[in-house]
Amino acid sequence: MTHATPHPHETDFGTPARTAGELVTLEIDGRRVTVPDGTSVMRAAMEAGITVPKLCATDSLEPFGSCRLCLVEIEGRRGTPASCTTPVAPGMKVATQTPRLAKLRRGVMELYISDHPLDCLTCAANGDCELQDMAGAVGLRNVRYGFDGESHTTAAKDESNPYFSFDPAKCIVCSRCVRACQETQGTFALTIDGRGFASAVSPGAGESFMGSECVSCGACVQACPTATLTEKSVIEHGQPEHSVLTTCAYCGVGCSFKAEMKGTTVVRMTPHKDGGANEGHSCVKGRFAWGYATHKDRVMKPMIRERITDPWREVSWEAAVAHAAARLKAVQAKHGRGSIGGITSSRCTNEEIYVVQKMIRAAFGNNNVDTCARVCHSPTGYGLSQTFGTSAGTQDFKSVAEADVVLVIGANPTDGHPVFASRLKKRLRAGAELIVIDPRRIDLVRSPHVQARHHLQLQPGTNVAVLNAMAHVIVTEGLVNRAFVEERCDVAAFDRWAAFVAEARNAPDAVAERTGVPAIEIRAAARLYATGGNAAIYYGLGVTEHSQGSTTVMAMANLAMATGNIGRDGVGVNPLRGQNNVQGSCDMGSFPHEFSGYRHVSDDGVRALFEEVWGAALDGEPGLRIPNMFDAAIDGSFKGMFVQGEDIAQSDPNTRHVSAALESLEILIVQDLFLNETAAFAHVFFPGTSFLEKDGTFTNAERRINRVRPAMPSQVGWDEWRVACALATAMGYPMSYDHPARIMDEIARLTPTFRGVSFDKLDRLGSVQWPCTDADHTGTPIMHADRFVRGQGRFMITEYIPTDERTTRMYPLILTTGRILSQYNVGAQTRRTANVAWHPEDILEINPHDAEQRGLKDGDLVSLASRMGATTLRAQLSDRMPPGVVYTTFHHPVTGANVVTTENSDWATNCPEYKVTAVQITRSNQPSDWQVERDRQEGERKRVSTAAVSAAE
Ligand code: SF4
Ligand code: SF4
Ligand code: SF4
Ligand code: FES
Repeated sequence: MTHATPHPHETDFGTPARTAGELVTLEIDGRRVTVPDGTSVMRAAMEAGITVPKLCATDSLEPFGSCRLCLVEIEGRRGTPASCTTPVAPGMKVATQTPRLAKLRRGVMELYISDHPLDCLTCAANGDCELQDMAGAVGLRNVRYGFDGESHTTAAKDESNPYFSFDPAKCIVCSRCVRACQETQGTFALTIDGRGFASAVSPGAGESFMGSECVSCGACVQACPTATLTEKSVIEHGQPEHSVLTTCAYCGVGCSFKAEMKGTTVVRMTPHKDGGANEGHSCVKGRFAWGYATHKDRVMKPMIRERITDPWREVSWEAAVAHAAARLKAVQAKHGRGSIGGITSSRCTNEEIYVVQKMIRAAFGNNNVDTCARVCHSPTGYGLSQTFGTSAGTQDFKSVAEADVVLVIGANPTDGHPVFASRLKKRLRAGAELIVIDPRRIDLVRSPHVQARHHLQLQPGTNVAVLNAMAHVIVTEGLVNRAFVEERCDVAAFDRWAAFVAEARNAPDAVAERTGVPAIEIRAAARLYATGGNAAIYYGLGVTEHSQGSTTVMAMANLAMATGNIGRDGVGVNPLRGQNNVQGSCDMGSFPHEFSGYRHVSDDGVRALFEEVWGAALDGEPGLRIPNMFDAAIDGSFKGMFVQGEDIAQSDPNTRHVSAALESLEILIVQDLFLNETAAFAHVFFPGTSFLEKDGTFTNAERRINRVRPAMPSQVGWDEWRVACALATAMGYPMSYDHPARIMDEIARLTPTFRGVSFDKLDRLGSVQWPCTDADHTGTPIMHADRFVRGQGRFMITEYIPTDERTTRMYPLILTTGRILSQYNVGAQTRRTANVAWHPEDILEINPHDAEQRGLKDGDLVSLASRMGATTLRAQLSDRMPPGVVYTTFHHPVTGANVVTTENSDWATNCPEYKVTAVQITRSNQPSDWQVERDRQEGERKRVSTAAVSAAE
């Protein structure tokens, strides 16, 4: 099977597959067909290779039966039923092509065409229009009604959305868009307004798309059979010619896409129906926000400079690599082998990450490698491995369809993991109960047709206290699943834990005041979780980015084990990973203490294995974590760093401290698409490749290894894995591969959970969830099914130890941070797309009561000040925030939200405590000192590079 194909239309079976029912055999046009009960006649015909004309049906949506084009005749039944809404029955005899049906269908098409602009030849959808196809399919040759009567062909276009256009003149009111918005996306932004001839699609209450609650997921555009809803990129470039199957490079959902291409230009990204994570759906980022890949800001040539105040000089790849290697070696000669290190990137492929950590361990000769997962999900690795024995989520996303109770804690899926949120909302609309534990009233708490049963609106930093109190209720009210605990878990550890959580200090009443959650709510949520059927936990950075991040992960695992909610569909403990390849960067051995597959560097047997395959002596001592690297840089013992695709100057906490550390380095090498904030401190810049150029794999939050395939050639000449190989070689450790598939082969050879993974298998199966342990293994959607990876599940004592960060009279509010749907992380990619239309600046959300006390109005500029620093941004009054808590995002360097965050971190993993900073908010009409200084430095950098360009000219 090839994955770069001419542009094929995927088969649309008209209605969704049914899998559960008994098999039914019927006859269609004389052919015997056997399908599961509940299948539509239309789908049964399509599966037998018989095409039935259709317009309002598509296999991603439940049938609606409005267009009347799919009529069939059924022996023994009167009339001509719609095949899309008629289920199969045993012995049924169906005819899809008769003179009577042909006449009826032509009549239907005549009506559609008589109210349709006849501009097919110049229409953007020419060649990709189902109306056009159907006119051909039914043999329509003329239209008896003429085109002079009343019509919709002059209706005005809505061009408000930056990515798609809405031309109601071409609408056939099939309602596919409305149903896609409801069923697939779950936003309910569209309706059919009016009746009969006056009926028309309307976003919101007659608003424009941008003015409505539309979140720009594009599901309606994909569902539209005509050119009514069309991507502006298709209007600009024309219909695609071929497509390449690949994976989104934004969040940890890991959606599969067809990059639909014209030459090397992306025409559109279409979510892949067979994508295991997304099954044909996407969000605004994956579907539309790919323009950054060809943005003019991209750096295309390697660059070097002596001092960070010098202008950059473009050089050849060979010269840049030689310069970097010479500087790194010089630093090691002067300051010792441990004076250099590097950071791998969760945005890069597994193969790119693997070679960088190998370069550090084998060529740098130390274990000073860390990854950006340090600052997001490192507590997940620690907590789940302590309790279950493996550092990963337990389920596939599909599993949520079997959940009866869903507990979402410290996550905001509708913004952070939108495609998973759509799955979740679908399940909630079908009746599952929802518990939200979050300081903010996130959208899931109340949105169309979704209402959380319980919202535990806790004080930031009190997750552990709330979860211990839930455990207290479960243990003291006899809600423990004893059979599961006795069969699957370490009973002695359970007994210790049960005695601990049963202590009076962990009772809901005892923690109510500190957590801000009424005891009655904690009790009710605990009972629902323990007794409501299949209960699943989903969590995000609101769990991990705390000084008790690892404790909270273990507290959730304890709850799941105590109630037997682990090891089957619909249950489990599931991290919603931030970046596209956070799971992969952890799996690939990016932590200073672990080789790939989470094996400790001090294990002699494991080290010997790597030494043999790599042909290098390896250090058995764990190296420096990112915060240790910064501290050592300031102390003067750490002098050289390679940073792969991360903007640590913007993303890591306490910006002043990070800047001081980076300034102290003698050699900083940055590899990125853009000259980011970190590059301001760099001496060597290696241009990186975008996901559209990469060849490799990403691993999503479900442990699903997805292929990333190049849709266009590298824009910068060298693939990233090749750069790491060249640098290692120049450092004296020869490293080379002829293709990324060979890197995966080495990963498989050295990593038990990847042993059965290969590019060939991924190309064959589409994706594989690790563990995949041999050539015949097809992966593991649900973990810990019969036994925990560590043998017996281990309950861990989760003492609640409050953070050192305290509010005072000077800093009376708690700041918590997060992200929003349209932007991504530090915004380097999304800020370079039309997504800025939704979020042009970071905003501070503040409760109206706190605002009033400070005399603040909506839209005022405010100073956000902590013990660490201050920044100025705009305030938005929001009753989503509880009094005493404020919230902002960190997508814009001009705000620099991390100027105010502290260096407090998780006790086990050093994951920074981004979610709890004591702050004060005051009205302000000027930028902070930090912003003034940043602007000055930015101006200076521009002046230097302009001077350099003039000198070169
Ligand atoms: S883009 Fe998505 S949210 Fe917006 S109207 Fe279409 S389906 Fe609904
Ligand atoms: S906009 Fe497209 S999908 Fe929606 S009703 Fe009109 S033709 Fe159908
Ligand atoms: S949900 Fe995540 S992976 Fe999927 S399209 Fe959106 S950003 Fe990409
Ligand atoms: S496709 Fe069956 S009624 Fe429209």
